[in-house]
Amino acid sequence: MTDKDVTPKVPFGSVLADQMVISSTVGGVFGAPHVEPMGPLPLHPGTHALHYGSSCFEGLKAHRASDGHVRLFRAPAHAARMRVSAETLCLPVPEYELLVEMMRTSVRANLEQVPESPGALYVRPTLLGVDPNIGAAATPSSEALLYVIASPVGDYFDSSRALSVAIETQLPRSTPQFGRVKTGANYAMALGITMRARAAGADQVLFAPGGDVQETGASNFMLLDDSRLVTKPLDGSFLAGVTRDSILTLARDFGYQVEEREIAVDEVLAWAAHGEAALMGTAAVVAGVGTFTHDGTTITVGNGGVGPNTQRLRQALIEIQRGESPDRWGWTELIEA
Ligand SMILES: Cc1ncc(COP(=O)(O)O)c(C=O)c1O
Repeated sequence: MTDKDVTPKVPFGSVLADQMVISSTVGGVFGAPHVEPMGPLPLHPGTHALHYGSSCFEGLKAHRASDGHVRLFRAPAHAARMRVSAETLCLPVPEYELLVEMMRTSVRANLEQVPESPGALYVRPTLLGVDPNIGAAATPSSEALLYVIASPVGDYFDSSRALSVAIETQLPRSTPQFGRVKTGANYAMALGITMRARAAGADQVLFAPGGDVQETGASNFMLLDDSRLVTKPLDGSFLAGVTRDSILTLARDFGYQVEEREIAVDEVLAWAAHGEAALMGTAAVVAGVGTFTHDGTTITVGNGGVGPNTQRLRQALIEIQRGESPDRWGWTELIEA
């Protein structure tokens, strides 16, 4: 077995690649990045991010094609989103080019650890406010640490099995101003709710505060059938997924009528009788929903399996990511040693 065959059977993200890429600010300006072996970071106990949550991150993937070539998927889109997160958190905002270059460097430095499909190298740029100041609750961190770590991963979900999804209508996953920010606090807010839903047998929670269907804990959400795809429009209240954007583009290209509009819980439940529902995200790729649980009732979506339109869009995306079909949108870039 070569290194590349070892698509991890361990939980997603729990094995880290050997090298990380780091850039620190001096006077709020990011310095030239360098590569160093994966290991603990020296952080002051008063680090702003540890106390006041001034941290954000990204998640994207590099895929190995059957010819061995490695392609990074939509790094520029992830860099752009990270800049929005940094700005909203009042952190020093890394230059767009620096972010993209550090993502590429991370993949290059860990090239031998990019697993074969269906595995991938999950790349995790992270930005921390590092001012050592525990009196800075209402003061932004003027200095920041930017690093990119990576993890060889397998599939987040078993793609052949449709997910059971609990619909949460009381509690939100985030706040109106932070939904579009990829920051740890949002995931912390969702955790207790997700753990309770898991204990009741659900795989994921679909957040629909006040009946407004938004997203799950780590993916965007869509309804689809043979001719239509329906998903909530980007309004800042949830994460603007790069996978969502890619799937909408592919769906339009296939001739689906794409409707970006508000979705009510009642529509989701009614849709289950005739259509499909799916999650989309870097980790989830495109994952079919088999059942919804709402107010103590479980409703099966279609025949409870992964629907044909979900499979079709998933497959189309994967083929582009792996370089098996033409990349007409310029989403992938080759990373070579
Ligand atoms: C809350 C949330 N929504 C949606 C997504 C999907 O975003 P993307 O497709 O860019 O991975 C993610 C994953 O990053 C997420 O954590």
